[in-house]
Amino acid sequence: MPVIEKTASPEAMLEKENLAYLGEADAKKESTFTPKIVAFCCNWCSYAGADLAGNNRADYPADIKIIRVPCSGRVNPLFIMRAFEKGADGVIICGCHPGDCHYTTGNYYTRRRMALLISMLDYLGVDKGRVRVEWVSASEGARFASIMNEFADTIKNLGRNVRLEDIRCRN
Ligand code: FES
Repeated sequence: MPVIEKTASPEAMLEKENLAYLGEADAKKESTFTPKIVAFCCNWCSYAGADLAGNNRADYPADIKIIRVPCSGRVNPLFIMRAFEKGADGVIICGCHPGDCHYTTGNYYTRRRMALLISMLDYLGVDKGRVRVEWVSASEGARFASIMNEFADTIKNLGRNVRLEDIRCRN
């Protein structure tokens, strides 16, 4: 079962997180690559969707680190760069469906910001597929699980993030 953390600041969550352990158990068992994925989930829809997926025992990779944010609009693009720096292989941002944001327009900002970030990453030579934005409502537990499974497969195919990882951040 994936670990769902509940603390106030997403920056603090990301900073205290040691991503090195993600995927290690599986990697040792099967000697295969298990991607390290960070998922930023908005409190009002996607996080509840993740909760529902857990309650329904929907199967999705346990090595996905979920960080709860008040709104997907709270996700600063620097959080994503920092996650990559700390060794994440993929980052997914999940928010309410357009028009359903608890703060009315937060997810519209997310959509624009992430489009810019993804094109900047592309410019830097990082595969666009490593960052994804998805809309998941509180009632879409099964959809949450299937998105996570599909994203994990995509990242598995892309392989390790060697481009942006800063080895000084390994702990
Ligand atoms: S509250 Fe969910 S995206 Fe804004």
